[in-house]
Amino acid sequence: MKKTSEQKLKVLVTGGAGYIGSHTVVALQQHGFRVIVIDNLFNSHAGVIDRIGEITGVKPEFHEFDLVDTDKTDSFFASNADLAGIIHFAAYKAVGESMENPLMYYRNNLVSLMNILEGMRNYKVANLVFSSSCTVYGQPDELPVKETSPVKEALSVYGNTKQMSEEILRFSVGAYGIKTIALRYFNPVGAHESALIGELPRGVPNNLAPFITQTAIGRRDRLSVFGSDYNTPDGTPIRDYIHVVDLAEAHVVAVNRMIGNKTKSDYEIFNLGTGKGYSVLEAIRSFEKVSGQKLPYKFVGRRSGDIEQVWADTSYANRELGWKAEKDLDDMMRSAWKWEQALAKGNK
Ligand code: UD1
Repeated sequence: MKKTSEQKLKVLVTGGAGYIGSHTVVALQQHGFRVIVIDNLFNSHAGVIDRIGEITGVKPEFHEFDLVDTDKTDSFFASNADLAGIIHFAAYKAVGESMENPLMYYRNNLVSLMNILEGMRNYKVANLVFSSSCTVYGQPDELPVKETSPVKEALSVYGNTKQMSEEILRFSVGAYGIKTIALRYFNPVGAHESALIGELPRGVPNNLAPFITQTAIGRRDRLSVFGSDYNTPDGTPIRDYIHVVDLAEAHVVAVNRMIGNKTKSDYEIFNLGTGKGYSVLEAIRSFEKVSGQKLPYKFVGRRSGDIEQVWADTSYANRELGWKAEKDLDDMMRSAWKWEQALAKGNK
C-alpha cells in the first residue's frame, strides 16, 4: 500500500547537504521517507538541497544551524519528537586539519553527538544511524577486516573522534533506550548518476578520487602518489573503495532495520565496503580507462599516517542487512569524472 505524504515516516539527516549525506537523502526520499536536513553548511552548500529536489522531485525540509548549539538542537527536537530515526553525518573529517586543531575536532564531533543523544533521550526518539569509519581499525593484523577486529590506537584526532563517538554510543544506548547502528565506511568514491550532487572538497582535496578528477580537469598539475615502496603487489597502498550510491542505500536498509525491530542488539556495527581492495595505481588505471584521459602523476614519499592496506570483510553486513555493494571501481571513477565535468560547467 502506498503511503500518503501525511503517513510518511520522518527521518532527520544531519549533514544532509554534505557528500554522503546528500546521496543518502536522495535514497531515503526515493524509498518513501520524509526527510529533514540539518546542516551548518561549514563544508557544504545550500544549493545541494535544491539539487536533491531536482533529482527526487521533493526538496527536503532544511534547517541551517550548528548541532553544537545545545539550545537550537533542543528546540528542534521539541518540535520534531515524532522522528522515526536519525542519521548523523554532520562532522568534521579532514585528517590534517584535525592534527593542527584537535579541540576544534573534539568539540564539534563530540558535542554535536552528545546534543543529539540528549535530544533523543529527552524527546524519546529511538533510532540512530551513526557515520563511522574504517579508520577505527588502523592497520589491521588480519585482512579482510571484520567488525570484531580490534580497534587500534588512533593515528589522527579525526580518527579518534570516531572511536570516541562509538564509545559514547556504546555506553549511552542502553541507558536511554536508544538503538544505534554504527556504519564503518571504507573509502567512499563517486557521485550520483545525474551529476547533480557529488563530492565538493574545500580547497585542495586530501582524498584520492577528487584529486584525480581535479587533475584531469586541469585544476591541479599532477597527482602525487604517496609512496611506491609499500609491501603490496605494485608498491602503492590498497583501499576498499565503495560507490557513494551503494553506501547511501545501506543507510536506508539500516533505518528500516531499526524501524522494523530487526536489530539483534541495541548497538550494532557494520562494515560498509565492497570487500575488494585496489591499489592507488589500479585506481588511476581505472580512471584513465573510463575517462579516456592520461592522468599526469608522479611518485613522492609516503604520506604520514597512511596505512598500507585495508579492505573489508563484508559478509556480516551482506548477510544481516541483506545489502551488497553493486557498483565497481570503474563505475565510481566514471561517475566521479562526470561530476567533475558538470562542476566545471558551473553546476554546483
Ligand atoms: C582518508 C583518511 C581517513 C578517512 C577517509 C575518508 C587519512 C590518513 N585517512 O583515508 O581517516 O576516513 O580519508 O575518505 O587521511 N593518495 C595519493 N595521492 C593523493 C591522495 C591520496 O597517493 O593525492 C593515496 C593515499 O596515500 C591512500 C589512497 O590514495 O593510499 C587513498 O587516500 P585517501 O582518499 O586520502 O583515503 P585514506 O587515506 O584511505
